[in-house]
Amino acid sequence: MKFHHIPVLFNETIEMLNLKPGQIIVDATLGGGGHAGGILERIAPDGTLIGIDRDPNALAAARAHLKEYGDSLITVHGNFNDLGTILGKLNIPYINGLVMDLGVSSHQLDEKSRGFSYQDDAPLDMRMDPTQPFSAMNVVNEYEEKQLAKIILEYGEERWAARIAKFIVENRPIHTTGELTEIIKAAIPAKARRQGPHPSKRTFQAIRIEVNGELEILEGAIETAVNFLESGGRLCVITFHSLEDRIVKNTFRRLERPCTCPPDSPICICDKKASIKILTRKPITPSKYEIDENPRSRSAKLRACQKL
Ligand SMILES: C[S@@+](CC[C@H](N)C(=O)[O-])C[C@H]1O[C@@H](n2cnc3c(N)ncnc32)[C@H](O)[C@@H]1O
Repeated sequence: MKFHHIPVLFNETIEMLNLKPGQIIVDATLGGGGHAGGILERIAPDGTLIGIDRDPNALAAARAHLKEYGDSLITVHGNFNDLGTILGKLNIPYINGLVMDLGVSSHQLDEKSRGFSYQDDAPLDMRMDPTQPFSAMNVVNEYEEKQLAKIILEYGEERWAARIAKFIVENRPIHTTGELTEIIKAAIPAKARRQGPHPSKRTFQAIRIEVNGELEILEGAIETAVNFLESGGRLCVITFHSLEDRIVKNTFRRLERPCTCPPDSPICICDKKASIKILTRKPITPSKYEIDENPRSRSAKLRACQKL
């Protein structure tokens, strides 16, 4: 199996992780193993990389790509939301660094049958983990109109959400991404369709986020990762849209300034301590060169912090 995923913000992420030989690092979104290769090159043979992915195909491809590193790579099929349990089972009490490169991989987008892309006609699916029973078929065909409109508005930031939800409900059952795209096109007025990106872009993003529960797990996963980091350990998170980036930014800020006392309180009485230092006041974004080479990197943002 061949993966074509070009790792995004590769040099910047590797630099931010501040890797040393022998370290224990987690790649919570192993994908095709692009970032993982750079990490292993710096920590192996004495170090260990735990590579997690929800997609068994990604794990198989990464293992093949990184086979030269042998036992330095441990792959785990799972959700990074279960990081605590995963590390517990491996008897790993602390880690020196963790990277999350969120969203779908280029391979998942390119694999037509997975239904992630609005460019192809495929069954409605969009599951990162094909062993999970809940798919885009359930969201599109079973959600109430109001619920559909809410997720398309919130997760897709789509101004035509209410009309799209109405058209979807009126045209059920819907089986394929092609059918869904035709319905979305009919729902968005022609003038608006001509201006923005592909008419399905925002709605497909919203449905994908809902199917995979992408946003609700992020804050908790960052906190768990910080708890497992050894003092001085680094956490890097790469996001691809503003909703994710906002969660990362706000969670980092809360962990850096955790005091919950009312602003008019003369002294701190909550006694909550900072656990991290933010290393990127502004997120790191790809260079023009990287965007030219890999247009999918366009919306990427990297934020990093260090455990105190
Ligand atoms: C953008 S790709 C990562 C690419 C990787 N950094 C590389 O260089 O090849 C994101 C990967 O994370 C996985 N993923 C997304 N959310 C996940 C989660 N909550 N738990 C585990 N894996 C997840 C996806 O299945 C996908 O393979």
